[in-house]
Amino acid sequence: MPATVDQAVKKTATRGSLLGIEGMPASEIQKLLQLARKMNPFKARLLLRGKRVLLLFYEASTRTRTSFEIAAKSLGATTVLVQSSGSSIEKGESLLDTAYTLRAVGADVIVVRHPHAGAPHLMASYLDIPVINAGDGMHEHPTQALLDAFTILRHKKKLDGMQVTIVGDVYHSRVARSAIHLLSKSGAKITLCGPPELLPDIATTLVEGLTITRSCEEGLRGADVVMVLRVQKERLAGLQVSLQDYINRYQITLSRLRLVKNDALLMHPGPIIRGLELTWDVAECPQSVIVEEVKNGVPVRMAVLARALGKAS
Ligand code: NCD
Repeated sequence: MPATVDQAVKKTATRGSLLGIEGMPASEIQKLLQLARKMNPFKARLLLRGKRVLLLFYEASTRTRTSFEIAAKSLGATTVLVQSSGSSIEKGESLLDTAYTLRAVGADVIVVRHPHAGAPHLMASYLDIPVINAGDGMHEHPTQALLDAFTILRHKKKLDGMQVTIVGDVYHSRVARSAIHLLSKSGAKITLCGPPELLPDIATTLVEGLTITRSCEEGLRGADVVMVLRVQKERLAGLQVSLQDYINRYQITLSRLRLVKNDALLMHPGPIIRGLELTWDVAECPQSVIVEEVKNGVPVRMAVLARALGKAS
């Protein structure tokens, strides 16, 4: 019997699906990152010529959607975007019926973003084509974790032993969850930092060896990498969170940033909300690799799509 839902789905999902980092062996992560290093969007081999990549987005997206589209097109694939507004989803069509429809019109792979955790897993367990998770609810965002690892490794020799501090709304963040799994499999030391409403104590059970601190100063001291998360206002309903209190205690300012190592990297998956989780000048500071993360999304997603369609060599 498979021990987790992830393992159960992995058995039925088509080879090449990318549903999460949690169930992925470290060796496979390494292989994908190596493949991404070989991808050049400006001089790509048309490995996916004749293939159809369906982008199914039930939630807003700028970076993830455009970089998947550019990645697919750079490899010669055709892309079709389906968003909930303007499609039969608005008429009440179910996730599976939409998936069967996209398969019937000739999709070779489906990239899906959905507000509910497990939606890509459900699709993958019914379809005979690979499914790529572009963010499922508060669960995982595997390609963001891969592009973040790719970005760190452009500046640092290895992830093993790196002190990575993740600050902010960890509770709602699929980015944090995927990053935590990837970094922990790679030997990084992870500190999570935020108020209890956005970072409950139970977060320590995600992986072994996590540290939690409520003090931003303590979390930042000596860090090699700081990952700042967006405060997900759209998911805050029912939580007692004072944004002013958050700003006072956790906003990344230039003075707080002095506590990190001199050569530390400042990261954020975007979209950044200047004046809330970080100040304007921090977003532009020399340590910031926020724009580079977006750029690296393209080669990483090229690698993920090439792997999905068996063109990874
Ligand atoms: C994130 C997401 O949608 O999970 N953005 C992204 O994909 N780069 C993070 C967020 O919305 O805060």
